[in-house]
Formats: sequence, C-alpha cells, structure tokens
Amino acid sequence: MKDKKVIVGITGGIAAYKAAELVRLLVRAGADTSVAMTANATRFVTPLTFEALSGNRVVWDMFGHEGTSIDHISWGQDADLIIVAPATANFIAKMAHGIADDFLSTMVLAATARIMVCPSMNSKMFENLAVQNNLGQLKEMGVAVMEPSEGELACHTEGPGRLPEPEDIFEQAWALLLRQDLSGLNILVTAGPTVEPIDPVRYITNRSTGKMGYALARAAWRRGASVRLVSGPTALNPPYGVTFFSVKTAEEMRQAVLKNRTDCDVIIKAAAVSDYRPKESARHKIKKGADRVTLELVKNPDILAQLGSKKKASPCVLVGFAAETKDLLDNAKEKLKAKNLDMIIANDVSRDDAGFESDTNKIKVIYRDGRVEDAPLMTKDEVADLVLDRIKPLTG
Ligand code: CTP
Repeated sequence: MKDKKVIVGITGGIAAYKAAELVRLLVRAGADTSVAMTANATRFVTPLTFEALSGNRVVWDMFGHEGTSIDHISWGQDADLIIVAPATANFIAKMAHGIADDFLSTMVLAATARIMVCPSMNSKMFENLAVQNNLGQLKEMGVAVMEPSEGELACHTEGPGRLPEPEDIFEQAWALLLRQDLSGLNILVTAGPTVEPIDPVRYITNRSTGKMGYALARAAWRRGASVRLVSGPTALNPPYGVTFFSVKTAEEMRQAVLKNRTDCDVIIKAAAVSDYRPKESARHKIKKGADRVTLELVKNPDILAQLGSKKKASPCVLVGFAAETKDLLDNAKEKLKAKNLDMIIANDVSRDDAGFESDTNKIKVIYRDGRVEDAPLMTKDEVADLVLDRIKPLTG
C-alpha cells in the first residue's frame, strides 16, 4: 500500500476501539493513513490515540482549530480510499441521504475516493428495514458495504452487527485498492507440509511453514480470483476470503485436490508433500523396547504428476514449486518436464533467506519453453504477486 492514501472515518459506536488496530495495520502496510472522527467517536477513543498511530493530524471538528478551511473537500478527493469503520446506523442514514452536518459526513459527500462502509450496531437495529434500505442505497451509489459479522454484541445479544475483525477489514480494503486483474479465475493453491503418522503420537513431516502458499492464496484473492486453499497443518490463519480445506496426510491432500480441480483455471502446488509415509501406522503408541527399530516407508502418490498426466482431460495452468538444495535449475527443469507443468518456481531451500521458515524468498521462474527468469530476493508477498503476474498471461 506504499503509494496509497487511506482515510479511516470513525463514528460513535463501541467498536471504535477496533479502528485503532485497523489504523495500525494500514500504517504498517505503508499506506499514508489519516483519521477523521465524529464528535461522538471521540467519546469512545481519543483523537490522540489515532494521531499517535497514524502519525497524522486527526480531524473531528469542522470549525475547530485542527482543520484548514478546505480539508472537508480536499481530504476525500486526494485519498484513494475512505473506510468508515465502525459506521453507525445514524451515519449510514446520513450518507444515504446526503446529509452533511459535520466534518466526516461532509468530507464523504464531497469525496471522489472509493468508499467502504463497515456497519456496526445492535442486530435488531441492523435488521431494521430503514437501515437495510439505507445500505441498499449506499450500494447503489457504488459504496462497498462490508457485511458485519455475527456473534456476541456489546449489548449482550447475539446476531449480525459486530464490526468485522480489523484484519478482515484491512484485507477487504486492500482488495478495493487493487486492480481486480484475476477476477473470473478459479485458482487452487496447496500449502504447508503433510504429516504422515507413525502411531497416534508421532509422525513424519518436513520444515514447510506454509508461508509461500498462504501468500499466494491471499494475493490471488486480493486481485479478484476465487481461491481455494488446501493446506497441511501450519500455524497460520487461513487468509481472508479464500475457501479453506484442512488436510493432514499426502493422501488427504490428493483427495482434496482431485475433488476441487474440475473447474480450476490454475493450480499452484506450493505444498511440501511428504514423498514417503510409514508403511503401517500403529493403532496404539509404540512402546520403547529394542535398541534399534526400523521404520519401513512406502511411496506417497505424486499429486502434481497425477494432475499433469490428466491435463488433456481437465486443462488448466499447472504450476509447481521445486525445493532444492543443489543443482537447482537442472532438477527443477527435470520436474517441470516429468510432471507436465506450465511453469515451475525453483527455490534453493538451503539458503537462510529463502525457502522454509523464511519471510523472504529467492526464486527462479522456469517456463515450459525453457526460459528462465531470475528474480531478486523479495518478501514472500512480493514473490506471490510476481508469480501471479507470470501465470496470468498463461490463462489465455
Ligand atoms: N509434489 C506433489 N506430490 C508429491 C511430491 C511433490 O504434488 N508426492 C509437488 C510439490 O507440491 C511441488 C512439486 O511436486 O509443487 C515438486 O516437489 P519437490 O518436493 O520439490 O519434488 P519431488 O517431486 O518430491 O522430488 P524430490 O523430493 O526428489 O526433489
């Protein structure tokens, strides 16, 4: 979000405290973030909090000393996005009817920036026809309305009306700031390790954390794709917006992938699938006994090779990842050919700054026609966008 200007508009609801985290996330992502508050919002959280978090002046009084005479016009015209979170029923009504009686409502009325509204209120209030009609009117005006989540509300009732978590608002906002250049595409991503049980308490696995696959799924969703993520066990939260399938073993991953592949335009296999599994998985914990024990392993199915062999019957762009510790290019090229892929991303997992556990990656993109593109060291989020940029032309 480095070159983006974002305004967070805060209205007077108890969820105003969550806006502090939203501002922090936007600032951390590099957005130039400013905050405008209604007078009632300042009763819940002080402007000083937002000033400290955003590093920018906070405006809440149209005629106060803290603004200049044209801020209410220029703010919304200089910004890329305005996020009203939380948006009370009253503020939504004012927006829907063009009422401009304070700084925030006037600024929103004069804005040319994209506007996103996050309603937050008691569920009966939210379901009231007046509020629903006003939200319908906002949607017709081109405002993006983020549905509230359900759950326990501050008034001790349950139902729709909770402000979504700041991380989810942030993801929606990010998607609104991006060109939806992958919209219409169905993308299936696999991520993480697989675990192969030895007995109920032990298993074989590998060092994959899932970071690369999750970054790909997140970036694809932000760019408008419909994304399914099949993941082995990781410590990561499923990215917002993606349909998530949790699996453990290679066989479970194979089944989940085969079940979901039919309508896919692109399959990206970033998972580190265990090549072998114990021949037997003991029903009970194996007790300590002999000084030496031998574990017999049998080969797991190669999911990507299976997809590659059926490419004629179900055509889609197939992308693999090659994790190597030596002969990177030769091994990766060999895998691309053997598994009938359109592209393979080779990474040297012996480097400290690439591959497993790292937040950065150093990749080579290898195409079917033999071309190789050497990318510089990048964050995994940047790598994800680069990989998607390269995949897009292949989707025809
Ligand atoms: N892969 C797969 N099923 C397997 C093994 C690998 O789908 N049983 C996929 C991975 O998700 C990855 C690609 O194949 O996209 C290459 O995986 P990698 O572990 O680098 O190579 P392998 O084919 O397993 O060969 P080796 O372990 O000998 O390097």
